Amino acid sequence: ISKPVSEMRNIITYSEGSKEREQLVREINAIKTQTIDIPVVIGGEEIFTDDVVEIRSPHDHNLVLARAHLAGERELKKAIEVSLNSHEQWAELDWYHRVSIFMKAAELLSGPERFKTIAAIMMNHSKNPFEAEIDLIELCDFYRFNAYYANFIYEQQPDQETGELNRLDYRPLEGFVCAITPFNFFSIAGNLPSSPAMMGNTVIWKPATSTIFSNYHIVRVLEKAGLPEGIINFVPFRSKNAHILLKNSNLAGIHFTGSYETFIDIWKTVGENIVNYKNFPKLVGETGGKDFIFVHKSAEIEEAGTSIIRGAFESQGQKCSAVSRVYVPESFWPDLRNFLVEKLSKIKYGPVDDFENFMGAVIDQSAYKRAVSYIEYAREHQDEYEFIYGGNFDDSKGWFIQPTVIKTSNPRGKLMVEEIFAPIVTVYVYSDDDYEETLKLCENSTPFGLTGAIFSKDRYAIALAEKILRYAAGNFYINDKPTGAIVSRQPFGGARASGTNDKAGSWINLLRWITPRTIKENL
Ligand code: SER
Repeated sequence: ISKPVSEMRNIITYSEGSKEREQLVREINAIKTQTIDIPVVIGGEEIFTDDVVEIRSPHDHNLVLARAHLAGERELKKAIEVSLNSHEQWAELDWYHRVSIFMKAAELLSGPERFKTIAAIMMNHSKNPFEAEIDLIELCDFYRFNAYYANFIYEQQPDQETGELNRLDYRPLEGFVCAITPFNFFSIAGNLPSSPAMMGNTVIWKPATSTIFSNYHIVRVLEKAGLPEGIINFVPFRSKNAHILLKNSNLAGIHFTGSYETFIDIWKTVGENIVNYKNFPKLVGETGGKDFIFVHKSAEIEEAGTSIIRGAFESQGQKCSAVSRVYVPESFWPDLRNFLVEKLSKIKYGPVDDFENFMGAVIDQSAYKRAVSYIEYAREHQDEYEFIYGGNFDDSKGWFIQPTVIKTSNPRGKLMVEEIFAPIVTVYVYSDDDYEETLKLCENSTPFGLTGAIFSKDRYAIALAEKILRYAAGNFYINDKPTGAIVSRQPFGGARASGTNDKAGSWINLLRWITPRTIKENL
């Protein structure tokens, strides 16, 4: 398989009056006029259970997108059985037959399924058309590049010596893989079950409940692309039932993106049960972040300011990579402050099917309450926090939080350390002379290590930042926002409390889904 070209080159802008905008609006309207029932799908069988949850659009409380049926104990046990039974045939299929299914899915998503999918992402995730478009494109890229990386991996073979023949047999894991996916990216939801499946594993997929509507679309597209039954089983369930999967002796791996707390719980459950597994389960997880932009006094205002706005507020600050803390030198702050206030005052937020809105709503009530609690905390601690912009919230129609910039005098305070996952960014202004010292503080003041950026035109200052900020960011950007990693160009992931850093969108991730057998034959 030759190296694919990123679908990013074919981005659609949905400009006013365009044919694409018209098609997209038609799909959005179709979504608004019906509520679908979404089954559990195990081994190709659609199961409608009695445990039903309504999936509503985050920006419109009245819009019920779907009634989703959740799996109970019986369905989870069945999913395990089906995954194990489907394993052998799938694992023995030549790898190019496996990956071609996902390449076909990418063709469908970027072609005939595109507008329908974009509309589903917009209405279910409350992403504007641009954010929805890059989310869909990222999944197409994951599918195509992972196919290419799988080929790359399978070609790696050990050294030979006269009189012997050595081989590596890249076996899939023995057992089933459990994919637990987040609400914030359609692409991550699609990739987490698919990358282990490409490498020959069978998967039980638990999507985030709030985005079952958009995620079900992936199930249907994979079906159309010819994925055999039982390979990726779509099994939304309540967390209280997780132990049925996690404690099963055939659990071979977990592909997770979500909260730090949930990943810790998973790790603990696996640890407590460790002697009962056939294999050590592979735990691959991406969790939280407290991502930063660090500004040096030599930076350019518009470049740094625009990156703060895009990094902090695109997708309502709900990217794991979103900018959440900013360090700014004293001499730079007055101009940056004016820039931010002026630009933010022009930014609109509201329902994303109004194409004027840059931001939509946060995903659900609990995300909303969490965001509000941080805004209220800042209001109650005015000795420490000053509102530069925003601070309003409104849940009358949807879960809306105004883009908010808060300045703090305490670089180790709550808002500079804890993950908020909402459109709230906290700024700490440091004395120009304390550049190095503040870099050290930035490196060590949070438990996380996901993304970060330095803005500077001074090469020595850039080099110093890169040196000191060694573990604070698994994805480190120079003069660019720390969001929007592109598959194959910026492999994505972080260490520390941000996860196992197995770099989504690269061969590093795929290596976790195989357990190679070395074969030596004497000739
Ligand atoms: N990969 C996304 C980004 O870089 C976050 O998950 O923004």
